[in-house]
Amino acid sequence: MFVWSKLSAAQWMDAWEERFAGNPNLVIEVVKGGKSIRVRLFCATRMEADAVVAQFGGSVRKMANSEWNKPVEAPRPVKVRDVFVLTAENRPKELAALKKANPKREIIVIPPEMAFGTGDHATTSTCLRLLVDVARARKGTDWTVADLGTGTGVLAIAARKLGSGETYACDFDPLAVEVAIRNTGRNGTPEILMAEQDVLKWKPRKKGYDVVMANLFSTVLIEAWPVIAKSLAPKGDLIVSGILATQAWEVFKAAAGSGLGFTKVVKKGKWVTAHGGHLVDLIASEK
Ligand SMILES: C[S@@+](CC[C@H](N)C(=O)[O-])C[C@H]1O[C@@H](n2cnc3c(N)ncnc32)[C@H](O)[C@@H]1O
Repeated sequence: MFVWSKLSAAQWMDAWEERFAGNPNLVIEVVKGGKSIRVRLFCATRMEADAVVAQFGGSVRKMANSEWNKPVEAPRPVKVRDVFVLTAENRPKELAALKKANPKREIIVIPPEMAFGTGDHATTSTCLRLLVDVARARKGTDWTVADLGTGTGVLAIAARKLGSGETYACDFDPLAVEVAIRNTGRNGTPEILMAEQDVLKWKPRKKGYDVVMANLFSTVLIEAWPVIAKSLAPKGDLIVSGILATQAWEVFKAAAGSGLGFTKVVKKGKWVTAHGGHLVDLIASEK
C-alpha cells in the first residue's frame, strides 16, 4: 500500500473532493490552525500513486505494515428517523446489546472497509432520511429500486429493509461491489442484485425503477442525468446527493435538461441532497 500526500490551502478542500469524487481512499485532514489541509490518497500500487503525482504533484511513501494493520476506529452508531441504527459493530454480544437498546429500530451493520457509505457522512444519512419518507408514501405497493454508486450497499440494504421489491445496485469500483455483497449477506438482504457497472455506460431496463437513488458527486451526476432519467419509471422518486452546495445550481440546471426536477432540497454542511422526479410528473402533481 502506498500513500500519496500533498499540503494545500484549506480553501481548495471542495476542489480536492471533486477531483477524487467517489474515491473511498481519499482522506483530507485540516492542519495548521485550519488554514491548510493535508490531502492523502491510499493507493494499492506505486504506479497508481505515481500517476497522481504526475497529475497533481505531492509525494508518495510506502506504508509500513504496522500502519496498515492499525484497527480502524468504528464510527458511532447513526440513527435515521425512528427506523434505523447504522453501526460498524459486528461482534454478536455488542450487536445484541445495541438491538436491545433500540428495540423498535432495524440495525444495519456496515463495518469500516474500503468503500464509501457507513452512514456517518451527511450525503448518506440524508439520502436515508428521504428514502424512509419515500418508503412510507409507497407502503403497501410493490416498488422497485436502483441504487447507482452503491459503495457499501447501504442505501440498497435500507431500501430492502423498508420493503422494496426488486432492488438493483451498482458501482464501478470492483472493491466496493465486493464490500457491498458482503454487507448484503450480513444484513439479511442477499436478494439485492449487485453489479459492477459504470453508471455512465449503463443501459437501464425499459420500464425503469420506481425509486432511483444516486449519491454520486456533481460532475458524475451532470454526465449521468440522461441515463438516470431513462432509469426512472413514470411517477418515480429520485433521490440524489453528493452535490456540493456551490455546484447545486449547475447540477439542477443540467437535470432539467433531461426532464428531471426536485421538490425537496436539503442542505447539510456543504452537501446538498434532493428528492424529485420527472418534471412532467411534478408539474402534473397536485401536491
Ligand atoms: C459518495 S459514494 C456513495 C456511496 C453510497 N451510495 C452512500 O450513499 O453512502 C459514491 C459511490 O459511487 C461510485 N461511483 C462514482 N462514479 C461512478 C460511476 N460512474 N459509475 C458507478 N459508480 C460510480 C463510487 O465508487 C462510490 O462508491
